[in-house]
Amino acid sequence: MTVSGKTRVCAVIGNPIEHSLSPVIQNAAFNALDLDVVYVAFTVKPSELANALSGIRALDILGLNVTMPHKETVIPYLDWIDNTAKCLNSVNTLHCKGGRLLGYSTDGVGALEAFRGNGADLQGKRVLMLGAGGAARVIAYTLIEAAEVEELVVLNRTVSEAEKLADIIKYKFDKKIVIGSLSSEVIGEEISNSDVLLNTTSVGMKPNVDQRLITPDSLKSDLTVMDIVYNPFETQLVKDAKMVGAKVISGVEMLIYQGAAAFEIWTGHKAPVQVMRRAALEQLNKG
Ligand code: ATR
Repeated sequence: MTVSGKTRVCAVIGNPIEHSLSPVIQNAAFNALDLDVVYVAFTVKPSELANALSGIRALDILGLNVTMPHKETVIPYLDWIDNTAKCLNSVNTLHCKGGRLLGYSTDGVGALEAFRGNGADLQGKRVLMLGAGGAARVIAYTLIEAAEVEELVVLNRTVSEAEKLADIIKYKFDKKIVIGSLSSEVIGEEISNSDVLLNTTSVGMKPNVDQRLITPDSLKSDLTVMDIVYNPFETQLVKDAKMVGAKVISGVEMLIYQGAAAFEIWTGHKAPVQVMRRAALEQLNKG
């Protein structure tokens, strides 16, 4: 594309941010639809967040993705946030519209669409979630709200965090949430009673690519497995799940669909998901 005096800017802010795949994914989407927008990455230290947001307003940046460590701290600077983001205290997408900064959370919808886009229907299913951090909170909320998950099990290294997550969900929805520790016995027992396994912990992420929470003999072929870790593209969990014949959804799918939802908020156009997926995979293949 040719950058002109009329080109609009979108960006991702975070710290660190150099390894983000979002610029590659979003620029591919803008190009595919021939939109006059470029997407860049800005390193923003926590102490500079207020200044950065003043700049965003002053420069009339079209949209932002917000990532670690700003998803919560950005909220006081916004003019409006959507209901899901408000309940979960987490914002990952900003839209600058008419001089106002609007905040959304597309992480949950990213996970939901990753399941749907890969043919996994969660309605009435028992979902076993490993981890209870920020991503887990948003995903759990959306899966229960929009996908009508029947029962959720949350296992976490720090059980009190799983308890907090369960309290947030139970406050809003009339759902049974089972919580527990990440011991191999508990994981094995819960897998045998579950339809879907979702890893939201950072276990298996580069450079600790050999790390696993689950031994392959605990997995089963009638399980749908999603790992939100996308670097490496095939985590140890994904490899093990493929080996036992389970249905597998890689973390890059969630990344693409949360980006697609942000793209649609900024542009009003349907996101070219296939183009975004190809761009992400090409970049990941380069290492
Ligand atoms: P995110 O925003 O990606 O969810 P986070 O809020 O820091 O990041 O959450 C990280 C999750 O990974 C937590 O559930 C964390 O468990 P604790 O609550 O016990 O810290 C989990 N996690 C990180 N490293 C882990 C490890 N080595 N083993 C098990 N769980 C781990």
